[in-house]
Amino acid sequence: MHLNLFIQSRGHHEASWRHPLASPLSLTDIRYYQDLARRAEEGLFDSIFFADQLAVGTDIAQGPRTGLEPLTLLAALAVSTQRIGLIATASTTYTEPFNLARQFSSLDHISGGRIGWNIVTSWLATAAQNYGSSTQISHEDRYARAEEFMTVANGLWDSWAEDATVADRASGTYSRADRVRPSGHEGAYYQVNGPLNLPRCPQGRPVLVQAGSSDTGRGFAARYAEAIFTAQLQKSAAQEFYSDLKTRATAQGRPADQVVILPGFSPLIASTEAEVARLSEELDELTDPEVGRKRLSARFGGYDFSQLDLNRPLTPEDFPDPQTVEAARSRAQVIVDLVRRERPTLLQLLRVLAGARGHYTFAGTPEQVAKLMEEWLDDGAADGFNVMPPLLPTMLDVFIDEVVPLLQRRGLFRTEYEGETLRAHYGLMQPESQFDD
Ligand SMILES: Cc1cc2nc3c(=O)[nH]c(=O)nc-3n(C[C@H](O)[C@H](O)[C@H](O)COP(=O)(O)O)c2cc1C
Repeated sequence: MHLNLFIQSRGHHEASWRHPLASPLSLTDIRYYQDLARRAEEGLFDSIFFADQLAVGTDIAQGPRTGLEPLTLLAALAVSTQRIGLIATASTTYTEPFNLARQFSSLDHISGGRIGWNIVTSWLATAAQNYGSSTQISHEDRYARAEEFMTVANGLWDSWAEDATVADRASGTYSRADRVRPSGHEGAYYQVNGPLNLPRCPQGRPVLVQAGSSDTGRGFAARYAEAIFTAQLQKSAAQEFYSDLKTRATAQGRPADQVVILPGFSPLIASTEAEVARLSEELDELTDPEVGRKRLSARFGGYDFSQLDLNRPLTPEDFPDPQTVEAARSRAQVIVDLVRRERPTLLQLLRVLAGARGHYTFAGTPEQVAKLMEEWLDDGAADGFNVMPPLLPTMLDVFIDEVVPLLQRRGLFRTEYEGETLRAHYGLMQPESQFDD
């Protein structure tokens, strides 16, 4: 079983930052992240991961949206840890491929081969306003750019042979120029000659991670992603996603085990069911439905939900058709499917989304949590989990101290790190180089 720790705010519950058990450190204090990364490394997690948005959001008054820029953060964490993988989000819509290829290659060198890139197209509509446009680039166009972006980035990472740098003092040869080739890309969106101005990185390329689950997103993932994050509210939906992605990857000629599928999982854990109930209640009490309403609107590209009564059961007609949503299309679908299935009131829906924004939440004892994780693995719903503790660091500690040993006893999880790189942790092959004979 593979385990990634998703670090966000003081935990994934919307109100976590207000809870007395949450860390008192500022979200701009590097010690907060160093501490969490080291704990996760002691717990033998495969990796830690940071998401990123390129705008502050409409809920800044009540929402802790001030985490550090992920690439900068990974550089600091690369030298604070030794073995754990480090994954950062970066956008194909609002950066140039040469910049990102260079930054991720640098990070892979700095960390000795422990870096992954969560490739996103940036769903938040207001991000466009920070990059010279008043309107959002469409879902279709964002993915079209992402495709070409990957061709360019992969070409840049492959532009140096492994043995290109010789630094031979005697002959005066630093690099073998015949082992460095420009990638020479001329496309609809990007013109990038290359080569990259860095030698090939330890993993060949960073591990490519993806988290869009719409039809277009799945196609993109099947072509490029080596690890996939996804938000699923039911085991049956996770099974459908798992089998669809493995089938799509195989159709691309890729071995099914080279695509590691990690659904989000946010467990609230305590030793007794009474304690679990008390913690859930405390978090619910701290949740402001009006913050949830703003976040719901952002997910649906700014759709106005202000007229909806908090206590009326919802119907799918209260929402725009997810297939027309230009923002986070698959998450919009998860939400509308939930409404169709369970007919919650808006208040009930917002409480569910406050838990982990549409990822699977579960409250139980360590034994119940381990059992559920084993079942998802056995039933073809997951290769592991994107663990999203509702409260940090408390719920991470409980997970490491109480759940990890149960997984190890069942033979499901490592008892020590075997490899040195993120590829090794996830069981991924080193990418071939264009210089391979
Ligand atoms: C675990 C997880 C993390 C994500 N992190 C980010 C992020 O940091 N920034 C972002 O813009 N989108 C993020 N997303 C959203 C997706 O990358 C994607 O943009 C979104 O789902 C819309 O694409 P889709 O319509 O194909 O699903 C994340 C999704 C998941 C499941």
